[in-house]
Amino acid sequence: MITINREICTGCGLCVSDCFTNNIELSDGTAKPRGRFCMECGHCLAICPENAITLEGFSSSDIIDVNDADRIDPDQLLRWMKTRRTIRSFTDERVSSQDLQKILDMGMYSPKGGNIQNVSYVVIEDNLSYVRKLAIESLYGISDLTEEQKKIPNMIGYAKRWKKMYENLNVPGTPDLLFFDAPLVIVIYSPSNMNACIAAAHMESMVYALGLGMLYSGFTTRAVNASSVLKEFFAVKESAIAQASLIIGHPAVNYQRSVPKKDPMITYR
Ligand SMILES: Cc1cc2nc3c(=O)[nH]c(=O)nc-3n(C[C@H](O)[C@H](O)[C@H](O)COP(=O)(O)O)c2cc1C
Repeated sequence: MITINREICTGCGLCVSDCFTNNIELSDGTAKPRGRFCMECGHCLAICPENAITLEGFSSSDIIDVNDADRIDPDQLLRWMKTRRTIRSFTDERVSSQDLQKILDMGMYSPKGGNIQNVSYVVIEDNLSYVRKLAIESLYGISDLTEEQKKIPNMIGYAKRWKKMYENLNVPGTPDLLFFDAPLVIVIYSPSNMNACIAAAHMESMVYALGLGMLYSGFTTRAVNASSVLKEFFAVKESAIAQASLIIGHPAVNYQRSVPKKDPMITYR
């Protein structure tokens, strides 16, 4: 719900024309909410030259002014995308709480369809070996593939790996092929695949901006979705859907150059 301070409003109409749901009108020379559907997207608040609009139920303490420096250099951005690599080797150093907060903030501020804030996060730092054990047990539980699953690219290879990980679970000295000894795992939950994946991708860019590295772990996502024990431990509903898992830490490996990718199929009409 929005509140408009009509004492301050000059009636410029910018909020009226920018409101996607047509929830604001000009009345007696100032803007006024119509009391219709409001996505609480805050566009009216952001565009108002007089700062006359507030969003009820939201803290205004983290609102910042927009300036030219907010634009990211496009060449640098593309270079980053080309040179970022999935990291599967981490040092023992923990991710600081300040860095973790920045990563989570990227998810929180990332766009959501209809502005529905339906993405949540489970952060695992202190119970990694327990979660890893349960996750590997869960993967073992789904490693006998159906004929249909065998047709999915890479699935047979993945299932073999899950069985191997399970066999090695209690064998000292075997490499951690799930979390790669990373100090931080974030599992992203949402009923919306798209909202969660957009959040995950933006969180990834912060991970690398902080000098950290990560991998998206599809194995972890599958494991947590197939395990009632993990859902209970994470305090999420049985029906909750994990959409992405980020394995994060300080990289123990340096890549020297980018790698080539195949051209995508792009159709211009
Ligand atoms: C959705 C998704 C799921 C992935 N799952 C895993 C995984 O479970 N384990 C793993 O080691 N790597 C995983 N990866 C990493 C990919 O294998 C990696 O992106 C690919 O090898 C290309 O390497 P690059 O990211 O350095 O270009 C995943 C990547 C994505 C995007």
